[in-house]
Amino acid sequence: MLGFVLSASVVVFPGSFDPMTMGHVLVVKRALRIFSKVVVAVAINTNKETMFSIEERLLIVHNALKNMDNMISIESFGGLLSDYMRRNKRCVVIRGVRDANDFGYELQMSVINSELNDDLETVFIPTSLNHQYISSTFVKRIAAMGGDISKFVPYGVDVKIKKAFSAKKN
Ligand code: PNS
Repeated sequence: MLGFVLSASVVVFPGSFDPMTMGHVLVVKRALRIFSKVVVAVAINTNKETMFSIEERLLIVHNALKNMDNMISIESFGGLLSDYMRRNKRCVVIRGVRDANDFGYELQMSVINSELNDDLETVFIPTSLNHQYISSTFVKRIAAMGGDISKFVPYGVDVKIKKAFSAKKN
């Protein structure tokens, strides 16, 4: 039973951001049409092995969102998202949703998160048609086979990914 009304102008956008894609950038931009500040929270430990270290992922997010400086902040977090939200006295999480598959998973996550922290609410931000199939996983797969990913990722990230792959090969 909800005991009080939540309202927030600051929302948290958590993710692995391995790496941040243009889809993620769009979610931040859309969220800023509704909320006054977005905290991008980069997960230190994710359930997947990351290509980029936490420092690299933070730097990529920083470069990608440079022009939104006064409306965003960037943090990292370890452990449970629900605990991080409680520790920082924040109560609204935003997550981008591309399709019905995403929605199924995101709904599960949001229900679990609100069981773990009943002050926590999740707001889903739908993506646009031309960002529907962009994901960090696909971007990495294309890059691994030498494909051009420049239109899917923020400026300069394609070069970073290429370097990361060539370092792996050597
Ligand atoms: O970009 P992603 O990989 O979809 O982001 C997923 C993320 C990092 C938001 C999610 O895995 C997460 O919240 N991880 C922290 C651990 C946690 O709280 N898990 C939920 C309960 S199992």
